[in-house]
Amino acid sequence: MMISHPRRRLLQGAAASISAIFLPLHMADAATPRFSIGETDFLLDGRPLQIRCGEMHFARVPREYWAHRLKAIKAMGLNTVCAYLFWNYHEWREGRFDWSGQRDAAEFCRLAQQEGLWVILRPGPYACAEWEMGGLPWWLLKHEGDSFLRTRDSAFIGPARRWLAGVGRVLAPMQVTQGGPILMVQVENEYGFFADDLEYMRVMRQALLDAKFDVPLFQCNPTNAVAKTHIPELFSVANFGSNPVEGFKALAAVQKGPRMCGEYYSGWFDTWGAPHRRGAATSAVEDIQAMLKANGSFSLYMAHGGTSFGLWGGCDRPFRPDTSSYDYDAPISEAGWMGEKFEAYREGIKPFLPAGETLPPPPAQNPVMAIAPFMLNESAPVLANLPAAPVRDRTPRALEQYDISRGLVSYRVTLPAGPAGVLAAAKVRDLAWVYLDGRQIGTMDTRHRRYAVDLPARAKPAVLEILLYTIARVNFGVEIHDRKGMHGPVSFTPAGGAAQALENWEIRAIDFDADATLPPLSWQRGRARGAAFWRGNFTAARQDDTFLDMSQWGQGVVWVNGRCLGRYWSIGPTQTMYLPGPWVRSGKNEVVVLDLTGPQRASISGLKQPILDQLHPERDLARPPSRIKAQLDGVAPAHEGEFAPGSATQDVLFAHPMHGRQFCLESLDAHDGKRFAAIAEISLLNARGETLNQSNWTIAYASSEELSKEDGGALNAINGQVTDYWHSAYSGKEGAARHPHRLIIDLGGDTEVAGLRYTPRQGKGDVTGRIRHFRAYVGDALAR
Ligand code: GLA
Repeated sequence: MMISHPRRRLLQGAAASISAIFLPLHMADAATPRFSIGETDFLLDGRPLQIRCGEMHFARVPREYWAHRLKAIKAMGLNTVCAYLFWNYHEWREGRFDWSGQRDAAEFCRLAQQEGLWVILRPGPYACAEWEMGGLPWWLLKHEGDSFLRTRDSAFIGPARRWLAGVGRVLAPMQVTQGGPILMVQVENEYGFFADDLEYMRVMRQALLDAKFDVPLFQCNPTNAVAKTHIPELFSVANFGSNPVEGFKALAAVQKGPRMCGEYYSGWFDTWGAPHRRGAATSAVEDIQAMLKANGSFSLYMAHGGTSFGLWGGCDRPFRPDTSSYDYDAPISEAGWMGEKFEAYREGIKPFLPAGETLPPPPAQNPVMAIAPFMLNESAPVLANLPAAPVRDRTPRALEQYDISRGLVSYRVTLPAGPAGVLAAAKVRDLAWVYLDGRQIGTMDTRHRRYAVDLPARAKPAVLEILLYTIARVNFGVEIHDRKGMHGPVSFTPAGGAAQALENWEIRAIDFDADATLPPLSWQRGRARGAAFWRGNFTAARQDDTFLDMSQWGQGVVWVNGRCLGRYWSIGPTQTMYLPGPWVRSGKNEVVVLDLTGPQRASISGLKQPILDQLHPERDLARPPSRIKAQLDGVAPAHEGEFAPGSATQDVLFAHPMHGRQFCLESLDAHDGKRFAAIAEISLLNARGETLNQSNWTIAYASSEELSKEDGGALNAINGQVTDYWHSAYSGKEGAARHPHRLIIDLGGDTEVAGLRYTPRQGKGDVTGRIRHFRAYVGDALAR
């Protein structure tokens, strides 16, 4: 590792004062770095600096409130703010950069400096952060292939280097070496989670050096991936939400230097349809104090989460879109409130402040107001408001190919007269409503890989129209190659007949573009049926914060005075939309809602409190009942065995590799003797003991899932994250379910499987659901 050795303070002081008189600033600074990484400490002007940092994304906070939130961060006991830059937020259309207004990153740094905070910058090019495509711009996906993003492929590296050069032009002057607040800059993000190409990390580092960044550069990785991509040229920090001892140990194994947690999880993000997540304050404060005692540094992820306004919210793998609220259960709430958790952090940090440092009082909480219920009495059906001129194509391709970034897309084709049958697309991202001669006959839903609908018989030719809605591009894992739209071929298979390709489509789109710009709409009085825009207004006496209650609505997007607040979905857990006071007009305010399914009542009110934790699965799109069952009778297991107790990941190799399209893990009992099974993560191994690519996997069958008391959905077992897990049901109709429990994975095609890797549900002590005896099966029709 390159460690800049501190100069003696006296010398440095002298150099600095001479430089002020005789030398151009940048030359003097090159000789005397104000900030460096020493053998045991970060050094500021030669003196140890413990970094007490908190993350906040300026894109997720109204600009008018940046200063307020920075004051709160400072008052909580932090001395540094950490900020991602999201590439796609600044370059939504290739080559067109935007650093103005809400995107003014330099202004954010200046405000931080004014509030007495240092800045850690994380410009990507990839960020993750539950942000659309992890911050990567969608137009990269015009390039073919499913494995070029975040690699040295020129289709990625070229644009990424240009982006980082752009960042340098705007923010290199804000580095501490030039009198600004930026202390350090992160290269990439948790790359060890994704791949292990060290050369890629070197290229990205070089791109930042070329962009004129001369402060220390670093990389972050989850504790267990620190060693994987560590290179001596980059300082490493570890990301975790518990067990700082282990995190710091992983760092000590690869480098000398101060220990730092790059992301300490104060809470967690929410996805639509899954219970609201919380992070405990007590254990967090204990961990923070332990790090401070150990002379460590940390950054809270998040100190203040804010809101994924507009259409910027991301999507977890394999496909679980994130809520617009990014409250994160962070100590400073979505609307900037400082409650018990904030107090606990502030009091917990206080005893560790360096001599002479005192904390300013927290800023006052911004006022909130209620808004009486108001009706949205005008509507504009989506299908009647599409652009007149279509794009024509033989068979539909991904939207990126048509230069459409995101939004609403109609696909139209004429069907000949004929018998009933099945309509199927290769893939549909994300949701689609299928109409035959204007009558809705079904939906397609990428969450369940449901890309087919039943079509009735037709006495004469009929118009088939499919209305597609894009939600968000996946921000994590190889699934970031997430091309939207309906992917052809699209076929019609008459009952008992052969599939016929449907050709000659007309495609019309409302592209919401970067800022969710509304298209021209022709409004009508009264209620539209199906997908429609709705319009109404409310009068405000004050410009205070409020939370719009969307629980009467289905699913869609909200705009107030032309500004997009984000997506809502009444399945929850979030039921409200944060409307910041500065975006309210005193007087009349126009509200437009896109609702894809239609409201129960076209009315909205403003609440004084958010609702972040109400699930309503009954409001979800109707899901045809699954007729799929496990069919294991007479199938010989590939392996029968016993997992060790505890939380450690375990590999099992079969006597012989097996072939098949499906894999089943069957629990026979659990270590705690109870009736439940849980799995944090399951991977499959090839004959060399390496894990198989699982980007095309789906859950074919789960004997039961706990979906209401907690998020025990089966997808958790294959989403690459050990923090969540599949859990057999313990409430509701299936609550009595007992062993054997079965999870069957569709591997997306014939696969050779030589073994499995099982990660039990994590946690200390005797955690429920850890499987003891089990059987594994590989076959083609284990679930049917
Ligand atoms: C990782 C990423 C962050 C964020 C968190 C989860 O640690 O680095 O960007 O996605 O997970 O909130």
